[in-house]
Amino acid sequence: MLGSDYWNDDTMKLTTPTTAQIPELDSIAQELNDQIANDVGERKFSPRPDVKNILVTGGAGFIASFIVRKLVLLYPEYNVVNFDKLDYCASTRNLMTIEHKDNYSFIKGDITIKDMVNFVLQEKQIDTILHFAAQTHVDNSFGNSAEFTLNNVMGTHVLLEAARINNVKRFIHISTDEVYGEVEHGGDELSEDNILAPTNPYSATKAAAEMLVGAYQKSFNLPTIITRSNNVYGPYQYPEKIIPKFVTLLSEGRKVFIHGDGSNTRRFIYGSDVADAVEVILHKGEIGQTYNIGTSFEISNLELTKFLIKQMGLSARESELIEFVEDRPFNDMRYAIDSTKLEALGWKPKVEFEEGVKKTIAWYTKYSRKWWSDISGALVAHPYKSGTQQEYVIKSQK
Ligand SMILES: NC(=O)c1ccc[n+]([C@@H]2O[C@H](COP(=O)([O-])OP(=O)(O)OC[C@H]3O[C@@H](n4cnc5c(N)ncnc54)[C@H](O)[C@@H]3O)[C@@H](O)[C@H]2O)c1
Repeated sequence: MLGSDYWNDDTMKLTTPTTAQIPELDSIAQELNDQIANDVGERKFSPRPDVKNILVTGGAGFIASFIVRKLVLLYPEYNVVNFDKLDYCASTRNLMTIEHKDNYSFIKGDITIKDMVNFVLQEKQIDTILHFAAQTHVDNSFGNSAEFTLNNVMGTHVLLEAARINNVKRFIHISTDEVYGEVEHGGDELSEDNILAPTNPYSATKAAAEMLVGAYQKSFNLPTIITRSNNVYGPYQYPEKIIPKFVTLLSEGRKVFIHGDGSNTRRFIYGSDVADAVEVILHKGEIGQTYNIGTSFEISNLELTKFLIKQMGLSARESELIEFVEDRPFNDMRYAIDSTKLEALGWKPKVEFEEGVKKTIAWYTKYSRKWWSDISGALVAHPYKSGTQQEYVIKSQK
């Protein structure tokens, strides 16, 4: 057991953020209540008797914040512990509307630190882990891939070992469709038993983490489930990924940068649809299984950009708002997954792309500059993170 001094380390405090005490944020929280209620939806399941204390890693990040808000508001029977190191992309503001709830607590901590993870699992009597924490931006992974290995692979390993030692009953590991590698245009949608063929350092670390999850399930009978989802979009996403980044730039009348010729396509799914999927998998998912979480809505980066420009009423300036820049070192042409297995459990995506984009534009236009400390480094054509946590180095462009 760790002594109380442990918690005095500035980087590892057991803290509860007090964002709601700041008057401006208080009024923002009021404004967001309707949208959050809409995204959270209604409770679909009776609480599981074997689930009481849930650890969500990376809960102050984008996608996990949707499931934290959902579980805290719809399942008062569950205690939700958000364990997050508050990296550059995180914001405790993502949780400000629920942080006062009795069944929510926040711990600032790092999944790569085994003593801390073990301590939290014991102290909070964790029976269920929803593991979202990761380095998530492909562009950054070309700059400092070792940081991805540390957080995504080592971090997952530490968490699995702690889960094994502490007899966790359900370990849901959040992965990505990128682990399959690219699917050619016209190629079949991939089901869960396809081989993994990642092509960039980010997806390689996500695939490596999955291998460890599978090994812990087989070797130690750890009750694990894996999810793999399409690109996710919506409010609360740090503006380094294409939709929040472009919406932020366009909302300020600034041009956007398209990697390559913009013909690469992606499938997009709204954040609350992924939270719905995780809710279904938590309550009905079968141990040992992997579930794709996808939509059939697919759009090229160029078409997406034109769509955002149109939705934001800027069509007259379209040509001056788009600049084509050097492509990523490698850029998968497309991903395509088949979600039949998850749909058989009763899940289907609800939010149409146009509706989700409208919500996203409304949110970023108001809050993008208020949410994170400094987003300027994320808004350039080719950002990548250097060795330090906060510093961005702008790659020189030929
Ligand atoms: N965003 C997408 O389009 C997408 C698609 C498919 C799968 N995923 C997966 O979903 C998960 C969440 O993605 P996101 O886009 O919401 O991420 P995000 O980048 O918004 O948030 C990641 C969170 O993890 C935290 N974190 C990172 N390293 C940590 C560590 N060592 N210890 C504790 N906390 C740590 C960060 O502080 C942050 O809050 C990831 O595992 C990602 O691979 C994301």
